[in-house]
Amino acid sequence: MTGPDEWSNWFQYSRFGRTTDRDDALQIVFDVRDRLLAIAPLREIDSLLDFGCGDGLIGLQAALETPPHSRIYFADQSESALDLCRENARRMNIESRCRYLHTDCRDTYPFGNISVECILSRAAIMYVEDKSRLLASFYYILKNGGHLCFCEPINKFRMSPSTSILSDYELPRWQSEIKRIYEILCSSQRKSANLMCEIAPEDIVQWLEDAGFQDIVCFAEYRSLVGRPGWNELLYVRANPFTPSLFEAAQDVMDLNAWKMFEAELHAEWNRRNVRRRAALLFCKARKG
Ligand SMILES: C[S@@+](CC[C@H](N)C(=O)[O-])C[C@H]1O[C@@H](n2cnc3c(N)ncnc32)[C@H](O)[C@@H]1O
Repeated sequence: MTGPDEWSNWFQYSRFGRTTDRDDALQIVFDVRDRLLAIAPLREIDSLLDFGCGDGLIGLQAALETPPHSRIYFADQSESALDLCRENARRMNIESRCRYLHTDCRDTYPFGNISVECILSRAAIMYVEDKSRLLASFYYILKNGGHLCFCEPINKFRMSPSTSILSDYELPRWQSEIKRIYEILCSSQRKSANLMCEIAPEDIVQWLEDAGFQDIVCFAEYRSLVGRPGWNELLYVRANPFTPSLFEAAQDVMDLNAWKMFEAELHAEWNRRNVRRRAALLFCKARKG
């Protein structure tokens, strides 16, 4: 076992904010996972890699949909995330089929000499600086006829002051604070990785082509649904370990007294009206040979 790092803390705590109902908090992620697995040809394969596996969300579920003899590789740069994944595989009693790769994507061959029939990834490619090189590494370890299937958020759709969740609440006297809060949230998202803020889906298609993939199909899904976010989710959830929650970002913008007033006004608005909840995802599927 390794010590906790920022990712293992996020997987266990800060992705849930202050909620105790973790399964409920993960419903949206479970839905994305299932839609990603639905585009992956899993029934006949003998080997699979889950890149940026974290605590194993994608690969562990995929293991249930692949033949029982198939091998599942889990790759992550966080050793403590791999520990969480290992623990989850043990609980599911599929440990003997699983292998763990501590990867550094700056290596020429980050996955050693493995060779797999399918690669799956969700919300991990965006954290890798050199994405075209990563996609080339995927191509290298895929068997002929194998598939790469991944899903990444298109964050710029919901990360500007005009599209963010706070933009729908009527809080006229807090506009400059809200603007500053969003500057903090957006710049930390951009800094931690270029989280699909600047990258266009066409860039990804181009990199897949350059890597040699055939039959590339990418489709974006934009959602703008009206509803009420959970209060915990609105205030305390961190989008990733490097991005503060709204509550944390606000601490840099206002003092405690101002926060109490802001929180009370926001709470009244939250009670009073539904808001637009925006999210966009890019799903990609590509075949080698
Ligand atoms: C948002 S989590 C997604 C985890 C998992 N795929 C899921 O769907 O729940 C991002 C994961 O990518 C991993 N990651 C970030 N940069 C990476 C890199 N350069 N190489 C490998 N894994 C990386 C992190 O350690 C983390 O576990």
